[in-house]
Amino acid sequence: MPAFHFREENRLKGKGRKHAIETGVEPLSAMTRRASRISSISESIFATVTRWAVEHQAVNLGQGFPDFDGPEWIIAEAHAAMRAGKNQYAPMHGTRSFRRAVAAYQKRFYGIEWDPEDEITVTAGATEALFCAVLAFVEPGDEVIITEPFYDAHHADVLIAGAVPVCVTLHKPDFRFDPEAFERLVTPRTRMIILNNPDNPTGKVYTDEELRWIADVAVRHDLLVLSDEVYEFLTYDGARHIPLASLPGMRERTIAVSSTGKTFGMTGWKIGYAMAEKGLTDAIRAVHQFATFAVNTPGQHAMAYALGKLEEYLPVLRTLYATKRDLLFAGLCRTPLTPHMPRGGYFLVADIPESVAAGDIACAEHLARHAGVAVIPLSPFYASCDEGKRMLRFCFAKRDETIREGLARLERVPPEAWQSLA
Ligand SMILES: Cc1ncc(COP(=O)(O)O)c(C=O)c1O
Repeated sequence: MPAFHFREENRLKGKGRKHAIETGVEPLSAMTRRASRISSISESIFATVTRWAVEHQAVNLGQGFPDFDGPEWIIAEAHAAMRAGKNQYAPMHGTRSFRRAVAAYQKRFYGIEWDPEDEITVTAGATEALFCAVLAFVEPGDEVIITEPFYDAHHADVLIAGAVPVCVTLHKPDFRFDPEAFERLVTPRTRMIILNNPDNPTGKVYTDEELRWIADVAVRHDLLVLSDEVYEFLTYDGARHIPLASLPGMRERTIAVSSTGKTFGMTGWKIGYAMAEKGLTDAIRAVHQFATFAVNTPGQHAMAYALGKLEEYLPVLRTLYATKRDLLFAGLCRTPLTPHMPRGGYFLVADIPESVAAGDIACAEHLARHAGVAVIPLSPFYASCDEGKRMLRFCFAKRDETIREGLARLERVPPEAWQSLA
């Protein structure tokens, strides 16, 4: 048997240890093998909360997707496409039907003209579009300004690119940013701003004035803006979504991203898209062709059809979600939590009562365990300050029965149980 010394940082167990003893070759542990670009990527809070939900049979108001099905007429279109033999690889940049449908609605709704051939790319959800855009334009060591609380992929994508996320905080109560603080974050290393409008998790819909201010900063400092607009159609109370690319000087420096998963409540189909001027699109496609190459074909055909029906569909969608938002908001007002009314998206954040000393993670775990309601603590979505420690995120893309049951459970939490968190 060969003489063998285990490295301290590489404590091997089971099979790995046996292999090392038999061969004299000390294999690295999986942890040691990890590339440095993912060294700070760990299990997401969503996985943790889902585990709590399963363990405690909790009503899940945390997970960010509908617990009801998308429209039957879109499913029928997908079946028809499958039966018509649309089952092989789609073109790398997406089916022509889908790209044309995106170009048509962008023109109809916002007056933006994207060339469907050269400026629209279909991706495996908005998630892939974001990833491709960051990898295509951000160098290791660059800085990328993101808003916090952030959408987790915005932060993670920048880290995976070997770059540095620099956070500008959206402050309560209306989640505005401080323009001076924002501009101070711009340095010669800044390459990109990532914006989420409407915003997950705050429900903020950026005003024309705010967007013009950001556009002005981007133009003056020659920055790209990755504008994540997946909730573009989920706006309430007359709030109007303004796509960043529609502002003067922004078409040539914006990568706009959206998702049919959010628009049509079918997140499992993972059909998203990136829109950007040709030169930028070429770079995004350079990554996309080796990340996924192509996205599922019948789904694209069905979603092309669905995008053509937006005018009829959107009033139904907005009324459905606005009703759910109001139901959840009103119910939370009857608990010790203080909800903030969102104007877009399908999340709302609520403040933890001041009497509760425990932070958001302990509070969320307590609610899953003792109330049977799973929600998302907000601190994992902050990197530069600890405002998130006092907030929880709720998702209202849920059946009314789910929301009602979650609220009933929260209302049954006795005052002593809240005090026990003090
Ligand atoms: C802000 C934001 N961007 C992107 C995504 C991902 O979209 P998709 O499911 O199309 O990948 C989500 C999903 O929750 C989101 O909230």
